[in-house]
Amino acid sequence: MEQSDAQTVARRSSSSGFALFQRPNESLATSQRSGDATHRQGGLAEPRQIANVARRLVVISNRLGNIRDLSQAGGLAVGVADALAERGGLWLGASDEHQDSVASDQPLIRLERLGRIETAALILPREEYSLYYNGYANSTLWPLFHYRLDLVNHRAEFLDAYRQINARFAKALAGLLSGNDDLIWIHDYHLIPLGAELRRLGIRNRIGFFLHIPFPPPDLFAATPDHEELIGDLLQYDVVGFQTETDVANFRRSVQATNSTTFDTNGAAEANGRTVLSKCFPIGIDVDSFSRMANDAAEDVQIDSMRRQILGLKQIIGVDRLDYSKGLPGRMQAFARLLERHPEQERAATYLQIASPTREEVSAYADIRSQLEATAGAVNGKYADLAWTPIRYIHRAVARSRLAGLLRASQVGLVTPLRDGMNLVAKEYIAAQDPADPGVLVLSRFAGAAEELAESLIVNPYAVDEVADAIAKALVMPLDERIARHGALVKRIKRNDAAEWRRAFLAALAGEG
Ligand code: ADP
Ligand code: G6P
Repeated sequence: MEQSDAQTVARRSSSSGFALFQRPNESLATSQRSGDATHRQGGLAEPRQIANVARRLVVISNRLGNIRDLSQAGGLAVGVADALAERGGLWLGASDEHQDSVASDQPLIRLERLGRIETAALILPREEYSLYYNGYANSTLWPLFHYRLDLVNHRAEFLDAYRQINARFAKALAGLLSGNDDLIWIHDYHLIPLGAELRRLGIRNRIGFFLHIPFPPPDLFAATPDHEELIGDLLQYDVVGFQTETDVANFRRSVQATNSTTFDTNGAAEANGRTVLSKCFPIGIDVDSFSRMANDAAEDVQIDSMRRQILGLKQIIGVDRLDYSKGLPGRMQAFARLLERHPEQERAATYLQIASPTREEVSAYADIRSQLEATAGAVNGKYADLAWTPIRYIHRAVARSRLAGLLRASQVGLVTPLRDGMNLVAKEYIAAQDPADPGVLVLSRFAGAAEELAESLIVNPYAVDEVADAIAKALVMPLDERIARHGALVKRIKRNDAAEWRRAFLAALAGEG
């Protein structure tokens, strides 16, 4: 913390042409790192023995977590920050700050250090960033990878910007590496070509890629004109990690269909002169810390919960970004169907939906807010009375600690995405429960988490009546059955927790897994 308040200054590193915003007392270390010439092809030392786990970890993701305040952070940020805290290292991501133009050969980086973790925020040109983030990443890849071909918007300028931004990330990273030994871990669909860009710059480090979202079946994937390039990009990594076995199988089938490369029974294939390992690494949460947070719920959350207990009112909860992949309108309709099909639940249950704003500049997200507000309004208009509001809808992010308390105070957790890589809320809901009186998770079969969490009530989110009946079943489930299901689920989320996720991925990346 001692350095956290240090003034940042703008400074140009003469050795590389990098414009770096850095603290004065870091100038030596930074200018040493900035010499990207040492990473070009030829004259490179062979990578050291892979078994050395003390190698520096370098993480790259589009969104850079705030390591000074992880209280708002989701799974990726917490998982990555913990991995970095364990072994020290660097985290490179896009800065929230943009400029009108930035020379492509002069990356603009804001460096910060907290203890053993260093963050590098890459300042990118505004327009190009938008075409990359709102465009290719979230209007092309996100819908495509979530099986929503109907929403895919494919434009040449999106792809150009996507590739340019990835090339900028590669240039920036090349100047920040300390040598061939750094383990490079790249995250998510924004940065698929980053490994290939790094290889083009002569970087020979071990590079791993983890996809946080689903990988679609080959027929869907092939619908994007760029699918061959994307497969080529993915084959430049040493390790390609996925959330579920389904995603791994889809990826391998696409590779086979695209360039006839086959994976052996260990998930390894030969490509570009190296062995590429493709494997499933289900992401998890820090179960004990989330459970502690849930137990220490804020006073107003506890009061709200006590009020409901007195009234004999149960709470159903949903917590999501307001994303079309989360199945929110269908979920609200399912709640309305619950009231129609199970009238005994009128005035007996209330549904709290917390949906934080997300990607509002992307056109496919434009209608979902009004659609949801209209559905909530219609259900409340039909059923509400002075003593009971059936749906409470909150359109903002809620602090993590409050969220944990709200999940604990809810008798049913409703997680019904139409398609989801993993869905960490499902795991957070389980971790938040009181083991002596746990709530019940109703989970979509199309969430990656369903592969692990078989003891939840698994539903088809497209079948509204089925979801309604599962909610009804959850609301009246006897205590012994709830305890048995919850006990089994807790075991599973502990076995595949955040620490195991990063241990397994990093072992594979270091060549040990
Ligand atoms: P996704 O990554 O697609 O948003 P996940 O369920 O895997 O879905 O992860 C979402 C993370 O963000 C979880 O840790 C969850 O607690 C958090 N989160 C989601 N919605 C909110 C919200 N409205 N307020 C605060 N945190 C949220
Ligand atoms: C999903 C993606 C992440 C992304 C997060 C929030 O979890 O897999 O890469 O960071 O959603 O989305 P945003 O667009 O706000 O970064």
